Amino acid sequence: MKTYKIAVIKGDGIGPEIVNEAIKILKIAAQKFNFTLHFEDFLMGGIAYDLTQNPLPDETIAGCLESDATLFGAIGGEKWDNLPRELRPESGLLRLRKSLEVFANFRPAKVYNELLEASTLKPEIVQGVDILVVRELIGGIYFGTPKGRDKNRGYNTMIYSVEEVKRIAHIAFKAAQKRSKKVCSVDKANVLDVSQLWREVVSEVAKEYPDVELSNMYVDNAAMQLIRNPKQFDVILTGNLFGDILSDEASMLSGSIGLLPSASIGGKAAIYEPIHGSAPDIAGLGIANPIATIASAAMMLRYSLGEIEAADAIDNAIETVLKEGYRTKDIANFGAKEVCSCERMGSVIAEYI
Ligand code: IPM
Ligand code: MG
Repeated sequence: MKTYKIAVIKGDGIGPEIVNEAIKILKIAAQKFNFTLHFEDFLMGGIAYDLTQNPLPDETIAGCLESDATLFGAIGGEKWDNLPRELRPESGLLRLRKSLEVFANFRPAKVYNELLEASTLKPEIVQGVDILVVRELIGGIYFGTPKGRDKNRGYNTMIYSVEEVKRIAHIAFKAAQKRSKKVCSVDKANVLDVSQLWREVVSEVAKEYPDVELSNMYVDNAAMQLIRNPKQFDVILTGNLFGDILSDEASMLSGSIGLLPSASIGGKAAIYEPIHGSAPDIAGLGIANPIATIASAAMMLRYSLGEIEAADAIDNAIETVLKEGYRTKDIANFGAKEVCSCERMGSVIAEYI
């Protein structure tokens, strides 16, 4: 029987609650589809700082590198907001991404038919939306130097090398080949030199994928088009900062940020996490929506472990459960037959696998 090692980082806030549900689902999927999973917990974020004075202990990096994949919940909270930047939970996450060299971040934004009403946009605008944001994750202004601040000035550097753009562009075009064969590359080439280079390199790479249609869009226009007519997009390829912003925007098309998973891949190991944060305001109340994390677990089975049948079973179970009217609190106003706790939602999804 195939055996996989999964590093688990529950993190802060609602992290532990949502990850526990994903583990519950993974165990059932493993049983049903005949493979074994070994889970090992590692510390990161605020809890890691509290226990070790370091938001990303070395053991966590080592543990992730030794595993077949990392399942991650969420980190951060007001409690740690006033720490020096390098000790903050967010710095732990950025360092983890960098250490594992996961340069490609997949953020699908798919609208479930059952939740059309949950979107703040009109149903006819969002029905059928199926976008994949491919965000460069370990470069750009997040990591560029020089950076710093003194009393009067703060500065960061947005920088991309040809190599960095090439490798993420290839990933995006390959992903598009398996979808609707359209890539929209988003930049700010009318103002930024770094974007000019980005656009040139992406256009060059595009020549190797004649079956995929490339378009280019300025980021301000893309932000507008996502709301005006989101169905025009298939794969959105963009840099670290623009991808951070546009993926949050795209997530709202689906009605709740609690629904959307992500995969960070391309490096020495892979990280699977919901795109939402740690939601400290509802932590411990048992009302968080575990679907984004469970869908992230499905992505893990699909991309890192190659357990496609199990991944499909989880995705289908999520869809069925939504069809049947099970809702967590964030989406309770839209066709709820039963309003579920986080744990109950996990259990219902488990039943349908
Ligand atoms: C995300 C988050 C992170 C980011 C933060 C928590 C560092 O917003 O994963 O989108 O900016 O990348
Ligand atoms: Mg973000």
